[in-house]
Parts: sequence; structure tokens; C-alpha cells
Amino acid sequence: MKKIIITLDGFSSCGKSTLARQLANELNYVFIDSGAMYRAITLYFLRQHIDWQNETEAVKALGKVSLDFRYNPITGNSDMYLNDENVEALIRDMLVSENVSAVSALKAVREFAVAQQQQMGKKKGIVMDGRDIGTTVFPHAELKIFVTADPAVRVERRFKELFAKNPNITIEEVKNNLEMRDYIDSNREFSPLRKAEDAIVLDNSNLTREEQLSLALKWAREKIR
Ligand code: DC
Repeated sequence: MKKIIITLDGFSSCGKSTLARQLANELNYVFIDSGAMYRAITLYFLRQHIDWQNETEAVKALGKVSLDFRYNPITGNSDMYLNDENVEALIRDMLVSENVSAVSALKAVREFAVAQQQQMGKKKGIVMDGRDIGTTVFPHAELKIFVTADPAVRVERRFKELFAKNPNITIEEVKNNLEMRDYIDSNREFSPLRKAEDAIVLDNSNLTREEQLSLALKWAREKIR
């Protein structure tokens, strides 16, 4: 059967990764969470105290970063590895979330990550979620979905997710972080978040996971046929 590339872009906490993962499972495709790559780079920069505004320093540091996704037989998902260390849980940390938009706005970081993402798509049969996947990484993808949700719904979803891990977190902190990331992600110079002209908009504010999945599957099957 014909294999295609499916892209899912949108703001933070719109449920893109969950939908992308489910879609990939249904189609027997590879799911790639591109945000995890930016998060792992951010973690490396933070740990090594890299002054990332200094381009020479950032480029030098990137030369020591090796990223790959490895299958986790316990969860059935792929985990992010940074220099052979499983950092899947660490990259979801608030400190990483607070700095990832600044790091992912850097030209050198984008070039580094995009080149690897394009390589991963060479054989097609992938679902990749992010911010610039349908616009920059795979401008010729067969199916592009732009996921949106009401900001209040997104804050609520993200808060529930983070509160389960850290009961000290407040809704205000989550709201501020999301607003800041939306702003930086949409206004940065290189590959800002925007809907590709040929993307289908999926507003999931009032949709269940099953409803979103069945819509996305319908669109995918139309393209694969
Ligand atoms: O999807 P996420 O929230 O895990 O992404 C983390 C950050 O990475 C997000 O704030 C912006 C950045 N990002 C990006 O710039 N381009 C992508 N393709 C994916 C994520």
C-alpha cells in the first residue's frame, strides 16, 4: 500500500502528540514527536550551562548532541534518547518547558533538528507532530493537519497533566507558560508556527479522542487509497 507523510502542527497542548501517536498506531506508521527533539537539545544546553545566545557556543554544543528515538517495550511508545540516555521524562520538566521556545527559535538549532527530521521521513510512512512540519520540514506532505483548541481548554488539559506529576503547580503558571510559548513560537524569525495553506484545520475543543482519531483516519485513508 502507498505510504505517505502526515504532519500535525499547532500550538502547545492541543493534543497533537496523542492524536499523532494513535494515528500512527492505526496505520502502522512511525510516530515522531519533533518537540521532544527541541526539548532534549534544551535539556543539554541547560545541563552544560551553554550560553545559547552566543551562536558559536550553541553550534559547538550541538556538535556534541546525538538524538534518537528508541522503542520502549513497556509503554509501547518511542522514548527520546540524548547521547544514549533516556530523557523522555526529564524533557517534560517545567524548566525545560520554560526555555524550549527560546532554544528552538535559534537558527542553528532549527537547522540541526530539521535535517534529522527530514532524514527520518525519507521512507515515508510517518506521522510527525510539531510547529513547522507542514510548512518547513515536509512542505510536500500528502496530508497536513493543523490542530487547534480553545486556549482555556488547553490550559485545563495541560494543568491536569502537570498536576498529576507536581501538585504544587498552579493554573496561573501553566497559563503563563502556554501564552509565552504561543507568542514565541508564532513570532520567531525562523520557521514560525503557522498553518500551511493546504492544511486541514482540526479544532478539537469539543471533540473526544475517538472523534478526532476517526476524522484524521478518514482523511489519511482518502490520501492513501
Ligand atoms: O510540542 P512540544 O510542546 O513538546 O514542543 C516543545 C517546544 O518545541 C515548543 O514550544 C516549540 C518547539 N517546537 C518547534 O519549534 N518546532 C517543532 N517542530 C516542534 C516543537
